[in-house]
Amino acid sequence: MAKQRILSGIQPTGELHLGNYLGALRNWVEMQKDYESFLFMADLHAITVSHDPAVLAENTYKTAAIYLACGLTAEQDSTIFVQSHIPAHSELGWLLTCVTPLNWLQDMVQFKEKAVRQGENVGAGLLCYPALQAADILLYDPDKVPVGEDQKQHLELTRDIAVRINHQFGTSETPVLKMPEPMIRKEGARVMSLSDGTRKMSKSDPSELSRINLLDPPDLIKKKIKKCKTDPVRGLEFDNPDRPECNNLLTLYMLLSSQTKETVAQDCADMGWGQFKPLLTDTIVEALKPIQERYAEITQDKTILESVLRDGNEKAAAIANQTLSRVKQSMGYSRPL
Ligand code: AMP
Ligand code: TRP
Repeated sequence: MAKQRILSGIQPTGELHLGNYLGALRNWVEMQKDYESFLFMADLHAITVSHDPAVLAENTYKTAAIYLACGLTAEQDSTIFVQSHIPAHSELGWLLTCVTPLNWLQDMVQFKEKAVRQGENVGAGLLCYPALQAADILLYDPDKVPVGEDQKQHLELTRDIAVRINHQFGTSETPVLKMPEPMIRKEGARVMSLSDGTRKMSKSDPSELSRINLLDPPDLIKKKIKKCKTDPVRGLEFDNPDRPECNNLLTLYMLLSSQTKETVAQDCADMGWGQFKPLLTDTIVEALKPIQERYAEITQDKTILESVLRDGNEKAAAIANQTLSRVKQSMGYSRPL
């Protein structure tokens, strides 16, 4: 039987952190042997907030290098590419924007949150962002889309857009677009900020101390854990709604040391923060060490990345162009003469 296909992406808008790793990247790496994977850098989405042209391309390549450093590889059927290198994304993005009702876009939580943060200078791209994301997904006919919890609403919208296109331009026997399923793992789907256990860890948080980046050196990790928010209670526990920081830090420890929840709950039940923090620091440092070593190797030799992205682009573009033709035909466009 043919392998199922997954597709996902990350915006190259800053350094990748533990939330990106545990909510997305680590799952992609685990899944790549069982799925045909299409994984990209969403650099068109990256300009929906104000951006610096001098660092956009650099961030995109850094993000690609992190994908490889985490273990994604063409040898295990992963296709890695840059969104803006494949014009079909923008083109299908426009076609989908035109069939998406305005109020669907206005209802998106991410739009509302980011629009408030940007004040008066909100570009229309921020509103249309999810229609482009739907295009990213639907171009590749994926079975599943592995993401963190914050993307759930965008995936539901993608499915609604696909239903609409199929209803308006397809038939029940020959749908135009395939319906993708979101894939959100319970553990790690929502890693919280180190400064506030009720907010998610995010690249856009102004405080560096709120997150641990995958390339942070050990002394910086130590400093961030030392300063992270805790509570005055002795003994550590999962799932107490009054102790969000405690739950988050224990979850990080559990996931990065690959232990079960039961074991961690038992081992840490009588611990104080003074004992737990060094343990967590060592665990994070050890988990990130192989990624950082591999990242240093990959970025020494530019040709590695260039060849991965060239091959990825070729393979991805062939599929994307086929889907785009199918959609355009269904919507009544003629082929160019
Ligand atoms: P972004 O950094 O917004 O481009 O997100 C890239 C991927 O990382 C998406 O699948 C997100 O759902 C996931 N992600 C981002 N932040 C977190 C977080 N704090 N916890 C879990 N997953 C996250
Ligand atoms: N919006 C996603 C995020 O911020 C990034 C993204 C863009 C994406 N296109 C996608 C994720 C397609 C999954 C599938 O995390």
